[in-house]
Amino acid sequence: MAWGVISDMGSVTIRTSDIETSVRDAVGILGLTEVGRDGRSVHLAAVGDRAELTYVAAEEDGLERLGLVAPTLDGLHEVRRRIEHEGLPVLSTTPSQPGIEDAFTFLGPEGFAFEVVVRPGTGPAQPVGFGPKRYGHFNFHPQDHRRMVAFLTEVLDFRVSDVIGTGGSIGYFLRCSTEHHGIALVGGRGTLHHHAWETQSFVDLAKLGDRLHAHGRELLWAPVRHGAGQNLAAYYLEHSGNVVELYTDMEHIYDDDRPPVEWPDGKVWWNEWSTQSGFLPEGFRDHGLAPVAKH
Ligand SMILES: [Fe+2]
Repeated sequence: MAWGVISDMGSVTIRTSDIETSVRDAVGILGLTEVGRDGRSVHLAAVGDRAELTYVAAEEDGLERLGLVAPTLDGLHEVRRRIEHEGLPVLSTTPSQPGIEDAFTFLGPEGFAFEVVVRPGTGPAQPVGFGPKRYGHFNFHPQDHRRMVAFLTEVLDFRVSDVIGTGGSIGYFLRCSTEHHGIALVGGRGTLHHHAWETQSFVDLAKLGDRLHAHGRELLWAPVRHGAGQNLAAYYLEHSGNVVELYTDMEHIYDDDRPPVEWPDGKVWWNEWSTQSGFLPEGFRDHGLAPVAKH
């Protein structure tokens, strides 16, 4: 169920200075399938043939674009009307990848580029092998997180699921469907922190650790039971410097009148399984990618 102009999370596009390593990790560690290449771009998906993660070969690592899905063409046109009313620049009016019915890309607050797409429906699809079921959310660290939450709720119709810190001093978790969050934002230095993928089961979080170990790598943080969203999660660092999350068992919200859950200062929202100081790994929030789009 979706109520607004955005109904689902779409994709993430990342510039990488080593595209073959990035693609190899996305296939061998995350479990995605390569679904196409064009120019300097490689498209990957959890299931089906619609890109959910695109790597673009570049000199420097960076965040190129965050994709959002509009439920209908009318919804897409309404988003564009609102974006132009806000005075935000439209960067492109053509889809950035194949398999998209219509799309446009705009430059949002703090240089974060968003592509809004309408995509044709597909039948039920299941993951092949150990891969995740779908791309689920991103977590980013805007410098002015209150301005960003106002933009996402007032212009793009996201709803606040949880408020982090007294009065939102730390951040917000937002939803565009029944899933607890499609976007999480924590005030920070203006970077994307992680993109997140829903796994088939809790065991897949352990299997992620096994695959990382087999590749001479390691988990960044796991396993945890988040307070905000209730999801079980595991994290690793991808080549670009961005964090990747695998998660399962996230809360779904079916009550439109559910008030936001508040996590005042001092209440642990990031891990219900341990409140030991330092259990959020040191430097965890320092990872991430700055957006490459410029005004
Ligand atoms: Fe997350």
